[in-house]
Amino acid sequence: MLTHRTILAKNGVILALSSKIKTGRVPVLLAPMAGITDLPFRNAVTKFGVDMVFSEMVADSDLLCDGSKSRKIELGSNFLNTAVQLAGCEPKIMSEAAKLVSDLGAGAIDINMGCPAKKVVGGYSGSALMRDLKKAASIIESVISAVDIPVSLKARLGWDESSKNAKELGIIAEKCGVQSFTIHGRTRNQFYKGKSDWKAILEIKQAVKIPVITNGDIVDVGSAEKALRFSGSDGLMVGRAIIGKPWLISQISAYLNKEIQPEIPKGQKLIEVVAMHYDEMLSFYGDKLGVRVARKHLKRYLDIFALPKKLSDEFLREDCPKVVIRRLFELPKRINP
Ligand SMILES: Cc1cc2nc3c(=O)[nH]c(=O)nc-3n(C[C@H](O)[C@H](O)[C@H](O)COP(=O)(O)O)c2cc1C
Repeated sequence: MLTHRTILAKNGVILALSSKIKTGRVPVLLAPMAGITDLPFRNAVTKFGVDMVFSEMVADSDLLCDGSKSRKIELGSNFLNTAVQLAGCEPKIMSEAAKLVSDLGAGAIDINMGCPAKKVVGGYSGSALMRDLKKAASIIESVISAVDIPVSLKARLGWDESSKNAKELGIIAEKCGVQSFTIHGRTRNQFYKGKSDWKAILEIKQAVKIPVITNGDIVDVGSAEKALRFSGSDGLMVGRAIIGKPWLISQISAYLNKEIQPEIPKGQKLIEVVAMHYDEMLSFYGDKLGVRVARKHLKRYLDIFALPKKLSDEFLREDCPKVVIRRLFELPKRINP
């Protein structure tokens, strides 16, 4: 059944990355991060401006069991700019999950072939698919044939140092109809060790015509500029560095695209940004779970204030949302009494 959202999403294909790139913009995207890029965080980032946001990875089979109840696929009002990331290893299940996500109105679907976690690769999903390109191709084909919205792919350089096959995967993905290819410049066996090899992405960029997005270790405008230059890629994706700094992508994007820099919130304005994000997390998850989920974000926001450890621990242990908000607004007094 075509819902209103599906129709909008189909028309919203103009939002596909390739169109943005054709206009000369360098898109800067929010990376999918399990436990981080939920709807409240995607909204916090979107308020500052971002070309596209990616949901946390959701396993295809979980979606089909618990479908629309999953908070991970809550799309909110920014649904056209949201890619839902799917992980799985069975083409048929992946295609059914993709259809469900597309019917809910997502702007795009991203296929995860980069997750290094043992739990995921043990089930032959995530980066394990880089060891079986035939299987990878059949998953991509069945997802693409199930939906009309753009499908993108995210992977790593390869499984390990001796099997860096992201170029082959990119060529296959392009033939199947994938619209953009994001590469985290590490191998699966590196997990998060070493450095993201932006130069290695250049060879992949030169082998395909679809937009190539560089990911890994982009933390500020300087690293963004270098990652783009070394990789020759069309766009960038930022992950860990944006936690606690939802304006970072907008700042990087403005720098690369020579646009007006966003105002970086400081003092009272920063507190308002944090309070709004906190409030949204509590409404989204309910107070009990929300307080826990919020801690990992609060911790990173509090790093900016460089609070004494005792004060920051007090904050992070607090269970009562009202007290957290009150303490937040008292921060300027407590830092500069
Ligand atoms: C907490 C966390 C969760 C992540 N979850 C996902 C995920 O669900 N799907 C995915 O493709 N990558 C996931 N990643 C990897 C990131 O998307 C990204 O590729 C990686 O962190 C490197 O980019 P960065 O240096 O900008 O963080 C995750 C990373 C972190 C730190």
